[in-house]
Amino acid sequence: MLLRLLCFLVLMSLFSSCSAIPRLDRPREGSADEEVVQTKGDVEELCGIAPNGAKIVGGNEAVPGEFPWMAGIFLTNRGYPRLFCGGSLIDHQHILTAAHCVNQTYHRPQPADLVVRLNEFDISSKDDGLDTLHVNVEKIFVHPLWNEKEFKDDLAILRLEQEVDFDPNLVPVCLPRGDETFTSKSATVSGWGVTKEGGRASSTLRKASVQIEANEDCLLKYDGSVPFQILESNLCASNPPRDACQNDSGGPLVVQGDDERWTQVGIVSWGIGCGDRRFPGVYARISSYIDWIDSITQTTN
Ligand code: ARG
Repeated sequence: MLLRLLCFLVLMSLFSSCSAIPRLDRPREGSADEEVVQTKGDVEELCGIAPNGAKIVGGNEAVPGEFPWMAGIFLTNRGYPRLFCGGSLIDHQHILTAAHCVNQTYHRPQPADLVVRLNEFDISSKDDGLDTLHVNVEKIFVHPLWNEKEFKDDLAILRLEQEVDFDPNLVPVCLPRGDETFTSKSATVSGWGVTKEGGRASSTLRKASVQIEANEDCLLKYDGSVPFQILESNLCASNPPRDACQNDSGGPLVVQGDDERWTQVGIVSWGIGCGDRRFPGVYARISSYIDWIDSITQTTN
C-alpha cells in the first residue's frame, strides 16, 4: 500500500543534446580464453556512446536508439508480455535493475518468467524501425542487503541467457569508477513508465531531464514523511513536474561526461508521488555498489 503510494507519477520530458560521436566497432572475436579479457576491454572502450543521440530539444519522447543501453523488462508468466520495469545493459550479458523489480514478498519472478528487450522503442509496435532483441534471463542476482521494508540497497542484476553483440543501437552504459557525487549535475532518466501519476504506461520510450541534488537537502525534504531513509547509497534528483514514475523502476539515470559518453549514476528506486515539488525521485547510487556489480559480472557462477 505504502509502496503504491510511493510509486506514483509523472515522467519524462526534455532535452539532451549530443552530436558527433565516434563510431562503434564490430563485435569482438577471439578464443574463449581471450574472451573474458576482451569482453571487459570492449565494454570499457565502447560504453556510453550513443550514436543516435538526442536531436529533439524540449521534447519528452526519446529518439529511437537514443539510449542504446536501455532495457525493458517484461513479465511473461501471465500470458501477454507485460513491461513492469526498466534496466540497463552494462556488458555483453548483464542487465542492471532494481531489487524491488524482482524480489518482493508478493512479487518474486523466476528467470523463466522474464524477458528482456533491448534496442526497443515502441513496446506495442513491431515496426518502430528497430531490430529489437528479446533475450531470456538465466539468473537473477539480488543485492544481498536488499531490504524491502527499508527500501535499502535496491539493486539487482539479471544475467542473460545469451551474450549480446554490441552495435550502434546496442551499447552498454558506463559505470562510475570514482567517488564523484554528481551533485548539481543535470541527468537524464528514461523509461516506459506512466506519464502521469496513476496513469498508463507509455508505449514509447520517454526521457526526463532532472537535476541531482545533495543528499542532505533530499534528506530534509523527506524527513519524517517515509519510513525509509536517504542513505549515502542513495542519490536524489528532481525537476518538477518531471520525474520517473511507476514502471520506470530499475531504469537508468545517466549523466553525460565531457567526452560525450554517458555514465549511469542511479537506478530508479522510489519517491513519494512523482514529480511532486516537495519530494525528489530517489535512486540507488551506483558508485556505492561498483564492487558488488563487478563481483557478479566478473564471475560465471
Ligand atoms: N517505485 C516505482 C516503480 O516501481 C518508481 C518510483 C520512482 N518514483 C519517483 N518519484 N521517482 O516503478
